[in-house]
Amino acid sequence: MDKTIRMKINRQTRSFFIGYEGLVGEIPDEETLSHTLRERLNLTGTKEACGEGACGCCTVLLNSRAVPSCQILTADCDGADILTIEGLQDPATGELDPIQRKFIDKYAFQCGYCTPGIIMTLKGLFLKNPHPATEEIKEALSGNLCRCISHYHVIDAAEELARENV
Ligand code: FES
Ligand code: FES
Repeated sequence: MDKTIRMKINRQTRSFFIGYEGLVGEIPDEETLSHTLRERLNLTGTKEACGEGACGCCTVLLNSRAVPSCQILTADCDGADILTIEGLQDPATGELDPIQRKFIDKYAFQCGYCTPGIIMTLKGLFLKNPHPATEEIKEALSGNLCRCISHYHVIDAAEELARENV
């Protein structure tokens, strides 16, 4: 049976019809959140790589918790608050989030494919704990893979943020 769900995505309320694939505007039960974000809303900052919950490239915040959006069904997101990399900048000033600025300052990426997922994972961590220890940072990032081996710069940037966060 068709149903309508509503969620906030980057502070904007969005409604979707969950129903049978093929009808315009309807989302099938099995559609993933990453697919909805990228293919329906053009929020392509959320990357997909493994599609199996193993690489962290598709990480977004769901109710302030970092989750792999390729493992979340959009149909299950009724009432959820979703934040993607596109929604991270200050909505009033347009300024980048401090994590984004720090990544630029510290050259904490190379090709950048994994970077949105890493930044969203760190955002979730810093929301829970503004001053995580290095081991907590490493633990939080253990599900985020980077083929370019930018981990050292990422940890360096995260450690600096953990010291600076007030
Ligand atoms: S694409 Fe979702 S975890 Fe790899
Ligand atoms: S910077 Fe290239 S995959 Fe991480």
